[in-house]
Amino acid sequence: MITGRLLGVGVGPGDPELLTLKALRYLQAAPVIAYVSARGQPSIARQIAGPHLLPGQREINIALAMHPSPELADAAYDEGASRIGTELERGRDVAVLCEGDPLLYGSFSQLLHRLGNSYLTVIVPGVSSIMAAAAAARTPLVVRTDTLAVIPATLPKDALRARLGQTTAAAILKVGRHLEKVRQVLDEMRLLERAVYVEQVSTPDERVMPLVDVTGNAAPYFSLILIPRGPER
Ligand SMILES: C[S@@+](CC[C@H](N)C(=O)[O-])C[C@H]1O[C@@H](n2cnc3c(N)ncnc32)[C@H](O)[C@@H]1O
Repeated sequence: MITGRLLGVGVGPGDPELLTLKALRYLQAAPVIAYVSARGQPSIARQIAGPHLLPGQREINIALAMHPSPELADAAYDEGASRIGTELERGRDVAVLCEGDPLLYGSFSQLLHRLGNSYLTVIVPGVSSIMAAAAAARTPLVVRTDTLAVIPATLPKDALRARLGQTTAAAILKVGRHLEKVRQVLDEMRLLERAVYVEQVSTPDERVMPLVDVTGNAAPYFSLILIPRGPER
């Protein structure tokens, strides 16, 4: 019997119109949809793709605990991969819905390494939050020989300084409770004036503003900071 295909489908950063035509085709053709939900919240990828799903598609929700230890998260991915594997063995394609792009800090990598060697795998790239944020901020990120660093805000201050010191432009993801730490580093490095804060990009709740105007010490999980290239010299 021919097994099904593992489909990693990027659904973009929020706006259902930012799904690619290919993503739409794959997610509507798949008899089974899978997604990861975290922190007791509904899956964002499932919400984004929701308007495009068809009646009768089976769904696999890989639910991560509120604050999962690495062991608990591993166990949830093992169990999810096993459920997906069962569908693939029955010859059914499974479309794993991924917020933004599947391979940019995506939980899809957890399933890819568990299932990718055993089943035919197709990955449909998605519009990442970084690209959507640059568009929303209407700013060039990099031109010509500039470099762009993608930096997790979870790094310690020294590592943030080192990464930021070596790049022309940066996108700092996973801001959340690390907002104040990032703001301090950017201030020390005289990058604060250039920094743009982007929250829930491409959704009705989108906020785009200079980081200097953001109050409070924490930000929502779906927020990032762009340090676009400096002005033309
Ligand atoms: C685990 S990463 C996933 C990135 C995603 N795969 C992508 O391609 O954009 C989650 C982080 O991406 C950023 N992010 C994702 N979606 C976002 C959105 N709609 N608005 C702002 N930031 C977003 C936030 O920094 C968030 O903490």
